[in-house]
Amino acid sequence: ETIEWDPEQAGKGEFDHFMLKEIHEQPTSLAQALEGRIDPENERIALSDFEPGTFADVESVQFIACGTSYHAALYGSLALNQAGIRSTALLANEYSVSAPPVDDDTLVVAVTQSGETADTLNALRQANAEGATTVTVTNVVGSTAAREADQALFIRAGPEIGVAATKTFSSQAVMLLLLGQCIAADHHGEPPADLEALLPELAAMPDAIDGLLETSEADALAEQYAHSQSYFFIGRGLGFSVALEGALKFKEITYEHAEGFASGELKHGPLALVTPETPVFAVFTGEEDEKTLKNAEEAQTRGAPVIAVCPDDHRAVDVADEHLSIPETAPDLAGLLANVQLQLVSYYAADLLDRPIDKPRNLAKSVTVE
Ligand code: AGP
Repeated sequence: ETIEWDPEQAGKGEFDHFMLKEIHEQPTSLAQALEGRIDPENERIALSDFEPGTFADVESVQFIACGTSYHAALYGSLALNQAGIRSTALLANEYSVSAPPVDDDTLVVAVTQSGETADTLNALRQANAEGATTVTVTNVVGSTAAREADQALFIRAGPEIGVAATKTFSSQAVMLLLLGQCIAADHHGEPPADLEALLPELAAMPDAIDGLLETSEADALAEQYAHSQSYFFIGRGLGFSVALEGALKFKEITYEHAEGFASGELKHGPLALVTPETPVFAVFTGEEDEKTLKNAEEAQTRGAPVIAVCPDDHRAVDVADEHLSIPETAPDLAGLLANVQLQLVSYYAADLLDRPIDKPRNLAKSVTVE
């Protein structure tokens, strides 16, 4: 007697798709990313590859990346600006035509899950040639980016099979927050003021995501709004990068039209697209939430259903049509919890539409051409 055994199905374990499995792996992958790198009791971050003082001369940081990694880079860059260090996130494929000047004191950080994305490698090579100090934040030890950057910081997320990046986004964003805190500490000569409050919340992230994954709100919501015309995602500050990522994930695997906007930009054009057939997902991260709520209400007035992604006791819950709940956490981390809810919404929407979730049409896991 033989037993039918499909190695691909076996790799998915109890899940129907690698994407869902990888979404559910986030508590573990994040714990791996943080292992030995944060010390909440002593209020310290220790990235073993970087001695304290490594970044003392860094005056500005350029992040280069594509796709989801670009959204993580944007997350890291906005957080670094908030910590008082000049930084920009740049699309790697635009770098050859529009890179800002690189000085001796510019740090260039290439963010790439695979470490093999041609656009990102080209930008990294350009930065190396111009004499910048370079670091790559990557998932793959021995990848081209890891070999060619001056130094590599590994996110330790484990293999990601789904073409849609999920667990690697969370780990990249968290590693960029840690790197940013180290840069800010070296630059200013003392740890950032909010480090003490951030570290215990970082340590609690795996449990927070675990709890969130047990809810079924995203599944029900995806069903409720299936067959809408377009899906909009808005956010402010770190929430803006999450809005962009939420929309990219949605379009990538559902093939439905989705766009991410800075909340305040809605009224500068996109509001013309808003109808009762365009659900608006509003991400609240504690950064000027009142303004984001006002922007969401402007869409609601035009008939759009608003889905607030925020903690249960947030004022937006009373205003919005629907609510995706996230646990309370530090402002620097709320967007990452919101992102997990948005990953789930995209997954369930794509599943309802019967899309080939792990291998969307026209896309490759690693884009090795320009
Ligand atoms: C994410 O869901 C995409 N598949 C894609 O945008 C990806 O993030 C991008 O191609 C960059 O890949 P990298 O992180 O391996 O460089």
